[in-house]
Amino acid sequence: MTNVQTVFGTIFMLLIIAVSCSKSETTAPAPVVTVDPYAAIKAAFGTKIDPNNLANYANQGKPAYINKDNTGGNAITNAKATLGRVLFYDTNLSIDNSISCASCHKQQFAFSDTAIASSGVVGGSTGRHSMRLVNSRFANETRFFWDERAASLEQQTTQPVKDHAEMGFSGQSGRPGIAALLVKLQAIAYYNELFKFVYGDVTVTEARLQECMAQFVRSIQSFDSKYDAGRQQVANDGQPFPNFTPMENMGKQVFLTPPVFNATGIRVNGGAGCNGCHNAPEFDIDPNSRNNGIIGTISGTGIDITVTRAPV
Ligand code: HEC
Ligand code: HEC
Repeated sequence: MTNVQTVFGTIFMLLIIAVSCSKSETTAPAPVVTVDPYAAIKAAFGTKIDPNNLANYANQGKPAYINKDNTGGNAITNAKATLGRVLFYDTNLSIDNSISCASCHKQQFAFSDTAIASSGVVGGSTGRHSMRLVNSRFANETRFFWDERAASLEQQTTQPVKDHAEMGFSGQSGRPGIAALLVKLQAIAYYNELFKFVYGDVTVTEARLQECMAQFVRSIQSFDSKYDAGRQQVANDGQPFPNFTPMENMGKQVFLTPPVFNATGIRVNGGAGCNGCHNAPEFDIDPNSRNNGIIGTISGTGIDITVTRAPV
């Protein structure tokens, strides 16, 4: 290291300044030009992503009645969630640069899709409906996907990348696997800057992608429904909500109250027992729920008798 670099630390680097042709200016002191360590991030994202002024993902605040949490050991940090956000919206994560996570998980539709099946790379289509991603964090359920095949949100996040029809780094039919994506991302200047900022070095690994994308997904939170406005005015879900109509409060009771069956299994009293699977106040799917017997619409699988979770 030269003295100059030592003085300026690792953040700044000197640019070589071209000497002016004009002899009369040679006595002027050469201006010191610094290189912005986030120049590529700025070039790509403008002011949307600013490592010096991160958006607040980590401390968003939640209502006192929300207590379930599947965060595990991967607590949200502003730095990793920021990198997760960049990854989520980046079509570079697909084999032909056409699809990002946000292509199917659209913010304006609660991070889901209006299409029953979503389009993936080169004519690919999803086998099931894209799940919405709001409040994924506030649940006892730690498994993800309709059939709960991902053991954690971290494991879930790179599955669409490796799915042949979705983002295409599948290792099938002549396509490379996820190792090629890691090399691809590490060659992109703004990822070099972002990974250095977040992890201290530029190395892109699957575990790092998972950690950051899971943090971003868990940061997608919403508590401004009519239900939330009512719930925060009362001590428990069973009390009538002051902002609900009488019919809405009755509907809430039907939802919350378990059914009463007679000896032959016929429902004779009580409510619909929705709360047995969709647990208020988070309305997360109870981890013991298996399926609700609906008719499959996409793959023509008939009546659903496999494990099927609801989003949240
Ligand atoms: C081509 C469309 C498509 C793309 C691209 C896509 N997803 Fe999905 N996503 C889906 C579908 C469809 C499901 C449900 C799949 C299933 O259960 O088999 C899903 C499920 C999920 C779930 C599970 C939610 C839950 O409650 O269980 C998460 C989380 C998720 N996606 C995040 C992502 C992330 C992160 C990316 C980008 C790396 C991504 N998705 C890319 C379509 C897509
Ligand atoms: C046995 C468990 C179970 C019970 C009881 C149950 N559900 Fe569900 N519910 C599910 C599962 C599993 C899904 C996801 C699969 C699907 O969409 O059919 C679901 C999906 C839903 C969805 C769609 C959620 C989304 O994001 O797409 C709504 C709305 C819903 N249920 C409302 C209700 C209501 C209202 C009741 C009571 C009348 C009820 N559920 C009772 C298990 C249950």
